[in-house]
Amino acid sequence: MGVNVFKNEPFTDFSNPEQKRAMEAALDLVASQLGGEYDLVINGKRISTEGKSVSINPSNKDQVIGHIAKADQAQAEEAMQSALSAFAWWKAVPAKERARVLLRASAIMRRRKHEFSAWLVYEAGKNWGEADADTAEAIDFLEFYAREMVRLAEDQNLTRMEGEDNELSYIPLGVGIVIPPWNFPLAIMAGMTAAAVVSGNTVVLKPATPTPVIAAKFVELLEEAGLPAGVVNFVPGSGAVIGDYLVDHPKTRFISFTGSKEVGVRIYERAAKVHPGQIWLKRVVAEMGGKDALVVDKGVDVKEAAQAIVASAFGFSGQKCSACSRAILHEDIYDEVLAHVVELTKKLTVGPSHEYNIGLGPVVDESAYNNILNYIEIGKGEGRVLAGGGKAEGNGFFIEPTVIADVDRNSRVAQEEIFGPVLAVIKAKDFDDALDIANSTEFGLTGGVFSNDRFNLAKARETFHVGNLYFNRKITGALVGVQPFGGFNMSGTDSKAGGYDYLLQFTQAKVVVERY
Ligand code: NAD
Ligand code: ALA
Repeated sequence: MGVNVFKNEPFTDFSNPEQKRAMEAALDLVASQLGGEYDLVINGKRISTEGKSVSINPSNKDQVIGHIAKADQAQAEEAMQSALSAFAWWKAVPAKERARVLLRASAIMRRRKHEFSAWLVYEAGKNWGEADADTAEAIDFLEFYAREMVRLAEDQNLTRMEGEDNELSYIPLGVGIVIPPWNFPLAIMAGMTAAAVVSGNTVVLKPATPTPVIAAKFVELLEEAGLPAGVVNFVPGSGAVIGDYLVDHPKTRFISFTGSKEVGVRIYERAAKVHPGQIWLKRVVAEMGGKDALVVDKGVDVKEAAQAIVASAFGFSGQKCSACSRAILHEDIYDEVLAHVVELTKKLTVGPSHEYNIGLGPVVDESAYNNILNYIEIGKGEGRVLAGGGKAEGNGFFIEPTVIADVDRNSRVAQEEIFGPVLAVIKAKDFDDALDIANSTEFGLTGGVFSNDRFNLAKARETFHVGNLYFNRKITGALVGVQPFGGFNMSGTDSKAGGYDYLLQFTQAKVVVERY
């Protein structure tokens, strides 16, 4: 296949007036398309449902993004049957042809990049920069997994034996249920779907409840790119109603899930049960939550460390699994770093995400809003609130970026995933103590260390038990191909999305031996 080597999609510089105007035009275009109807897509057919859910703009609760069909169990079953029929022939389509669909989808998305970002702004409440990064990552996943499948389809390296032809090939699994989260509603949803499909599987895609329109737009794009009917079946609906049904289904071969620990554990447990008619053990890829920490050693540039903490804690209002929700500071620099963190946090702007240069947009929906505000109240009893501490103005789900200092390592705000703009600051006696605190949750997704001490960095390299560990920088924004992403312990199965091992999880290796 004659394509260039993989390169990450660059981020847009919106301080460039031309790019700014282009984004404004995309926002206007998408604003003119709000309020549409989105159907289920099963075997390429649009299916309307009586019950619908309404997706709203979290920056403006009165603005409807779209009305979305809601699948029931009968329609989930139809989607499963469609995916089963399509698997019979899609699995035999050569890997290069499957990869070409992804490359074409990526080219279309790149041409309409700001338009996709604008949907992210309106439906997920991402500010321009965060939306642009989400779209760029979606493009990266399409490009990367296309090339990866072509590589996996090549002859694989084995120890050769005289007089025999030994061959290992990666074949698909079957029908996969793809269940993405709302927080990277384009990138993660597209990456999970594309990985499954390019590996030769067919998919039932159940999008996250707050962000179904973006998923519907991606399904339209796959059709435009030439993905045949039935390969991806789109069934928005309630997790409880159709999620359990599809997870339990005896024909489900694998479940690719990204979301909370609670739902991930539920899926993992349910998938372990073998149902009548089921002739395999289901595979579960489950990427879950985090309680990520940035450790700051003594002797570092305190301003730089504070900047990294604030960027990691409050980007997309802290709604990233990778977000820094604990800053663990060596007692010698505690006051200094904390003062800078508070100063920088107080400078952040909060407002509607479609406006240019907004620091923090809203949180995603009412349930997240109430949950986060509740945690802030809990935090008031567990530490000193030095910045933020409550709602912010506006007709949306706006919350002030909040810094809670002097938090005990075992307190609730230091242990439970809040998934909002709330940072707990914890004092450590020394570097070893800081690492102990960092490792003291049930999660293990991202982590970071600021230190100039090589011995301490080496110690952290060895003992800081997280899937993605960053030194002397922010702990969010893993790049496809550069920093494969996935966590330890209750953060998940460490599938390393965007990495060279990822597609193996959607395939099974078959060895054929021919003796001459
Ligand atoms: P969530 O667990 O509430 O929902 C995730 C998906 O599961 C949604 O599509 C939802 O509709 C579906 N679901 C709900 N109940 C279900 C059921 N019974 N059966 C099947 N599916 C069901 O998570 P969320 O709120 O969408 O996302 C936020 C969470 O995701 C956070 O915990 C965050 O840390 C995590 N996350 C992890 C990663 C990672 O790579 N580790 C990346 C992004 C987000
Ligand atoms: N992959 C995303 C990040 O690294 C979650 O921030």
